[in-house]
Amino acid sequence: MMSDPVGTWLDIGVTTQIAPGTARTLPVQGGAEIAVFHTIRGEFYALVNSCPHKQGPLSQGIIHGDTVTCPLHNWRISLKRGEALGDDEGCTPTIPLKVDAGRIYLQRDAVLNSRAA
Ligand code: FES
Repeated sequence: MMSDPVGTWLDIGVTTQIAPGTARTLPVQGGAEIAVFHTIRGEFYALVNSCPHKQGPLSQGIIHGDTVTCPLHNWRISLKRGEALGDDEGCTPTIPLKVDAGRIYLQRDAVLNSRAA
């Protein structure tokens, strides 16, 4: 809603809903599904849930450090930048995310404009 006092950030809930080393997906009306990752080291990242290779669901991949391995053909994707690593080329859109007082926020415009890679 336009009058939302949080402004440009969408509150998607508490950090504890995503165990370290796992991801959750978030459907976005009119946009792409978004995957929110929680690394073992305690960082959070949000990406469009679509591998730049053939749209594999990155949320179902294995997380190592700040990369996720796509479950379909094992490309490794940077959670920070959305880029494919190694010899592979392609990029998944990332969604700016912040954690504040134990809650996760996604940048509203990036969520609303999200599209599959
Ligand atoms: S779809 Fe992700 S590696 Fe092929």
